[in-house]
Amino acid sequence: MTEFTILVTGGTGTLGRLVVARLRDAGANVRVLSRNPGEASDGLEFVRGDLATGAGVEDAVRGISTIIHCAGSQKGDDDKARALVRAVRQEGIRHLVHISVVGADKIPVSRGVDRAMFGYFDFKRKAEEIVRESGVPYSILRATQFHDLNLTAVRALAKLPVIPSPGGFRFQPISADEVAERLVELAFGRPSGLVPDIGGPRIYAMTELIRGYLARTGKRRPIVQMRMPGRAAAAFRAGANLTPEHAVGTQSWEDFLTERVEGVRV
Ligand SMILES: NC(=O)c1ccc[n+]([C@@H]2O[C@H](COP(=O)([O-])OP(=O)(O)OC[C@H]3O[C@@H](n4cnc5c(N)ncnc54)[C@H](OP(=O)(O)O)[C@@H]3O)[C@@H](O)[C@H]2O)c1
Repeated sequence: MTEFTILVTGGTGTLGRLVVARLRDAGANVRVLSRNPGEASDGLEFVRGDLATGAGVEDAVRGISTIIHCAGSQKGDDDKARALVRAVRQEGIRHLVHISVVGADKIPVSRGVDRAMFGYFDFKRKAEEIVRESGVPYSILRATQFHDLNLTAVRALAKLPVIPSPGGFRFQPISADEVAERLVELAFGRPSGLVPDIGGPRIYAMTELIRGYLARTGKRRPIVQMRMPGRAAAAFRAGANLTPEHAVGTQSWEDFLTERVEGVRV
């Protein structure tokens, strides 16, 4: 592969897969870092590695000048960023594009319920900090929740006879592919620091997202709203996970459901 190969961490995930497809469409060679490498093809290679342990990460970054860091999970994204940055320092990387989440800087996560339910935001905040302080030229994009994530959540909730919903929680879901498009645009540009957030076209109450899914699938379920304790939940109720001034996504929740969930005839 050429020296212009772009490394995509998490290139096997919901977002990363779409990033890889867009890079390939744009004619870029792509290397994917994954714990479970897939099949290589023309212009696409895999390196086995684990950002939680650091194994394989040096091999993955070798000869690379641009990285799109999409690897992530509920816990430990700070450690993953640290492992990546540690390997990258020796390589003269010109651009590290990092995906974060809207609210990473605004959702206070203390102990107890906060940490158990919202620890993710704290990991994302620390990961941003590690990238910012790495000395590697970077762009950081914060996105709102992807439609796919909301679908996974409401599907699981709809299996219950009564659906619990955190009262006052709202979401601004976005198409992961629209986020992928923006990440690729950033990767082809100059390092830009923290760039404007990206959010979906509309803000929905959690109950609206659930009702939209129930309507699409023809299910009927009572929804019970519960008040969640803690400062992080209060920040959610205040809209810290939303970015109404950056509602740039175009695919609505309804359009996504139509595309992805088989509907019932009414
Ligand atoms: N989902 C959302 O609503 C949302 C919103 C805003 C921001 N984000 C951020 O976007 C990124 C991607 O999210 P996603 O929903 O696409 O996640 P996903 O579908 O769960 O995919 C996660 C990816 O991370 C990789 N990964 C996880 N742990 C790893 C490790 N220890 N070492 C190497 N790779 C590891 C996985 O690769 P392998 O399993 O192949 O190793 C997989 O490709 C995350 O950073 C997430 O925080 C997500």
